[in-house]
Amino acid sequence: AALVQTFAQKRHGHISQYRFNPKASCYKVAILGAAGGIGQPLSLLIKMSPLVSEINLYDIANVQEITADLSYCNTPAQVVGFTGSSELADSLKGVDVVVILAGVPPKPGMTWDDLFNTNASIVKSLIEAVADNCPEAFVHIITNPMNSMVPLAAEVLRQKGVYDPKKLFGVTTLDVVRANTFVARKKNLRLIDADVPVVGGHAGITILPLLSKTRPSVSFTNEEVEELTVRIQNAGTEVVEAKAGEGSATLSIAYAAARFVESSLRALDGDADVYECAYVESNLTELPFFASRVKLGKKGVEALIHSDLQRLTAYEAKALEALMPELKASIDKGVAFVQKQP
Ligand code: NAD
Ligand code: LMR
Repeated sequence: AALVQTFAQKRHGHISQYRFNPKASCYKVAILGAAGGIGQPLSLLIKMSPLVSEINLYDIANVQEITADLSYCNTPAQVVGFTGSSELADSLKGVDVVVILAGVPPKPGMTWDDLFNTNASIVKSLIEAVADNCPEAFVHIITNPMNSMVPLAAEVLRQKGVYDPKKLFGVTTLDVVRANTFVARKKNLRLIDADVPVVGGHAGITILPLLSKTRPSVSFTNEEVEELTVRIQNAGTEVVEAKAGEGSATLSIAYAAARFVESSLRALDGDADVYECAYVESNLTELPFFASRVKLGKKGVEALIHSDLQRLTAYEAKALEALMPELKASIDKGVAFVQKQP
């Protein structure tokens, strides 16, 4: 519960009036790719949520041992394991939130194209199962390259006739978590107070932290803006290099993904004050998908927060212009992958 209260307490620099009902543990969450580096710590963090009644762990292998281990934690959620594609449909029945993190992480030197070639067909088949078994669920996509995977998923859902743009999310919370951490350290803010919106996408220069919109308001020199922006954009690569072939970030993304799940559950539970950054279908720019701060409600995205994109600094405006072609190419690639299939 302490974890949940931390997530619940701090948004927009003020304490929410929302108080979850400790008896209302009634939401079902499915994690697809649960046996992996992110899936295991994420499952643990979600098991700690008092809002969750059931966690369905799905993977192609090694699920049952994790299920047995996790199920002994004396928190309310029941843990159920599902192994292999014959059990995928059952893992999705009746779920409120599906988290997709199945697929390979990058190794040093790998390109986003390399990653796309492996992960696109995995995400496509999982989303087809989501469309068939839980089309009303909130869908959180973590698998990379996320800039392409979310448009790919949207296209699959559209072709299946069940696409609800308000319920499909690319999880960019890790970029916000990193931005908050780096800015708080640089400016001696309390970590719990720092709040930096991050817009665009989730890869390299498409990650655009809007430092001028940091709350509480702080000023940065031009050098600090450049240094912090590049650090936030490259933080994923830093971890890939530190792990030297053993994958990418797992613990920090599990923390970030758990925060996004918890925010979604609070929104479903009626909290009227839930804001997160996420990569969603958007009309804030000329691109059909764009990460921005969004207001979450019972039906998914209730509003896109456009004010963060107003009165950008010259640096931010230039960076926004620079990221658009790369983000557009990633979006087109995801959509084309589905459209070219027979
Ligand atoms: P991992 O290799 O440790 O785990 C991936 C899991 O997916 C494995 O358990 C594997 O068995 C499973 N899997 C593979 N194909 C599957 C299928 N068809 N159905 C179900 N499960 C399947 O990788 P990881 O470190 O957990 O990373 C997972 C993904 O998340 C990668 O693509 C990585 O790049 C991405 N990632 C995203 C972010 C983000 O912020 N969005 C951050 C870090 C990593
Ligand atoms: C990250 O931001 O750490 C990840 O997106 C890196 C990756 O490709 O898995």
